[in-house]
Amino acid sequence: DRLPALLQRMPKAELHIHIEGSLEPELIFALAERNGVTLALDSVEALRAAYAFTDLQSFLDIYYAGASVLLTEQDFHDMAMAYFRRAAADHVVHAELFFDPQTHTERGVPFETVVRGLKRACEDAERELGVSALLILCFLRHLSEEAAFETLAQALPHRDAIAGIGLDSSERGHPPEKFARVFARCRELGFRLVAHAGEEGPPAYVWSALDTLHVERIDHGVRSIDDPALMARLARDGVPLTVCPLSNLKLCVVSSLSEHPLPALLAAGLRATINSDDPAYFGGYLNRNFTETFAALPQLGAAEAYRLARNSLEASFVAPERQAAWV
Ligand code: ADE
Ligand code: ZN
Repeated sequence: DRLPALLQRMPKAELHIHIEGSLEPELIFALAERNGVTLALDSVEALRAAYAFTDLQSFLDIYYAGASVLLTEQDFHDMAMAYFRRAAADHVVHAELFFDPQTHTERGVPFETVVRGLKRACEDAERELGVSALLILCFLRHLSEEAAFETLAQALPHRDAIAGIGLDSSERGHPPEKFARVFARCRELGFRLVAHAGEEGPPAYVWSALDTLHVERIDHGVRSIDDPALMARLARDGVPLTVCPLSNLKLCVVSSLSEHPLPALLAAGLRATINSDDPAYFGGYLNRNFTETFAALPQLGAAEAYRLARNSLEASFVAPERQAAWV
């Protein structure tokens, strides 16, 4: 069977990766030691054993605790370089990295420490690995819109290092419209816009991400499958969805990969892509998401593989004339 080799070797873009979610337990402990941080669990094995999630919030609690070891510019650089090496091995030619500055500024880490470390890693990835990269700053939706405005103010001196703005963290109870004014301001400033919607939250959150925030891509969006009018809208406008199959499985958004809506999304003509979300926590980087999803879903074959890879490159925030170098 030649499908696994095709999935692994084809050039692809990753458009939904939280860089803090690439922090492997081994690196968490190495950084804790380097920085003199004490962790609640005392070994890599104990930490891995705690990665048994029942929903999004049960994951987020552990994910934010893991990020507490990140203190210096070098820490952010080293975390991102470890991800870029894995991505290059998976034939990722371009990656758009989410980062959560409020997770760090709330602990007293300066905004510029975060962005300088990540920016330097993006430059090193391009030069050393041939992987191009962009940064997308995400506002934490469990915090206030006022806190998002403060974060935006901290980002402005680094405007050129940040391609886009996203919205993540606890979805239910925090609809996109809570951030309407700050997203309007980001739009005026020329940022590219995305938002998590329809992961655990209802299709109504996908509608408001599109119509109130005016985002260009929907992160996850799998629950759109429950709303035929929304499916028609997403197909008509060619809105990319950054789908994360292993994440959906580990956070109990789907009960098994064989029931994942990805084949139905593609069959309906939606511009779906495959991504890893938080690979250190969900059991695999990009190629593992491809191979496990295709293994569980016999409806997916070579045509869908090419479609997903092409969608990922075309849905990136890189100008079409520069995308030509990838294929
Ligand atoms: N932050 C990191 N991963 C996330 C996810 N899957 N959903 C919402 N916020 C997140
Ligand atoms: Zn995500």
